Amino acid sequence: MHTADPDARALHALAETARERAYAPYSAFTVGAALRTTDGTVVTGGNVENGSYGMTICAERSAIVRALAQGYRTFSAIAVAGPAASVPPCGACRQFLAEFADGGFPVTFPRDGELVTLTLDELLPERFAL
Ligand code: THU
Repeated sequence: MHTADPDARALHALAETARERAYAPYSAFTVGAALRTTDGTVVTGGNVENGSYGMTICAERSAIVRALAQGYRTFSAIAVAGPAASVPPCGACRQFLAEFADGGFPVTFPRDGELVTLTLDELLPERFAL
């Protein structure tokens, strides 16, 4: 089973708070992400939409880029929160995460109304890497 543990639930609560600072005027689908670094710091992000829709940045990539800009390079977990019963990270965010995380990296998100934790390998088998 993939039921989220207490640490993952706490991280998800921070992702839920980060939704408040998302910028999603076009879809109204506010997403938050909370990324834990290996030193225990949590860096959050929200989706940032744009009138030129394709330029939209997801919450997960927002959190990762923010953490990288702050100098973090190693991460231990991420949680995603959103307004739907299921908010799995999109394919682009899985690949983006794969640049900085190994296959066992835990990703927590709502699925059918419950919080689950899957590994990055489960979410993105056969990742692309140079
Ligand atoms: N979104 C995310 O922030 N993360 C995902 O993994 C999937 C989708 C955002 C993008 C867009 O602003 C809104 O959700 C609706 O697609």
